[in-house]
Amino acid sequence: MSGPSPGRDPAELSREELVELGMRLDGVRVVAHEPAHRSAGPRGERRSRRRVSVLLALSVLFGLLFAVVYVAWPNGYVPPSDPTHGLYLLYTPLLGVLFAASVGALGVGMITYVKSFYPDEVAVQEREGGPSSEVDRTTAVATLADAAEDVGIGRRPLIRRLGLGGLGVFALMGGLMALGGVVRDPWRGGADAPLWRTGWKAVGGETVYLRIATGNPDEITRIRPQDMEPGAVQTVVPFRESERGNTEALLAAENAADAPVMLIRLHPGTPVRNRPGQEDLHHPDPGGDFYAFSRVCTHLGCPASLYDAERRAALCPCHQSEFQIDDGAVPVFGPATRPLPQLPVTLDEQGWLIARDDFPEPVGPAFWEIRSH
Ligand code: FES
Repeated sequence: MSGPSPGRDPAELSREELVELGMRLDGVRVVAHEPAHRSAGPRGERRSRRRVSVLLALSVLFGLLFAVVYVAWPNGYVPPSDPTHGLYLLYTPLLGVLFAASVGALGVGMITYVKSFYPDEVAVQEREGGPSSEVDRTTAVATLADAAEDVGIGRRPLIRRLGLGGLGVFALMGGLMALGGVVRDPWRGGADAPLWRTGWKAVGGETVYLRIATGNPDEITRIRPQDMEPGAVQTVVPFRESERGNTEALLAAENAADAPVMLIRLHPGTPVRNRPGQEDLHHPDPGGDFYAFSRVCTHLGCPASLYDAERRAALCPCHQSEFQIDDGAVPVFGPATRPLPQLPVTLDEQGWLIARDDFPEPVGPAFWEIRSH
């Protein structure tokens, strides 16, 4: 290979000469070079171009569909009894499939492009250590520019635009996901916003009983004060008489992520400090007051299912958050920063423990701009 004569100023060299100089300086030798499509000819090139264009167009299409689904698909929680529950269930899988299809088509399109249009070249290089010199950097840039010209991306505006479009849509998907949580209003719907509502909300004036969570929908055990000893704790879920015998509704009520509640009976005379404005959410009883708190940890949502009756502390086994039940269930240890929401409870005329209303604040992990009623 004839190359630029040594000692010439790199600024005077053409790009081809710089590429050759760069290879020589790097100890690179091209031992085989075959232009793309030499054997397949123009028809082969057209076929490759079509294949790449279709893949990149698919990437753009799937990316746009992702954006449409992300913004417009119904994604608010819908209970299993609702006919639109299936649509709600499809939301996350659809996003995943479209995202994977878009990124996959973009990746396969790019690989296909390089495989189809880059010359078949075999080069060998001696490896050297140390930082790159100025000349090395200049020649590296020239090599990249030469490679771009070799693959002809400048001469194929459709593929170039589709490739850039695919990358743009990819960036759009990332941006949408990053901004979506900020733009969406979790409080839309006012008092009926999903964050305000759990299965404890009375619908149509029907009484919501506290039912022991047994995992068996056919076993319906409601609770009266005499059923629990002072110091005892029970996990309870909402129950309505209209659901009796309806296995699906009973299972849904028990399995809802925001439903489980810790019902705690304190020892009589236990001094308690309630949170301001929540002084009347418990049920007072001479044999020991009843307090009901969400069992969903306010750190990351694990079940805060351990109760230390002696210290009146609820513990979350995931990251060891501890909530002081006789102090409004405020966190006193661990990463949780918000008290466990308290469910207002009372007795009905027959002496069953019932929910007076839904929680006065959202259940589960804390997030910015969380509010209370
Ligand atoms: S989820 Fe409970 S402490 Fe982390």
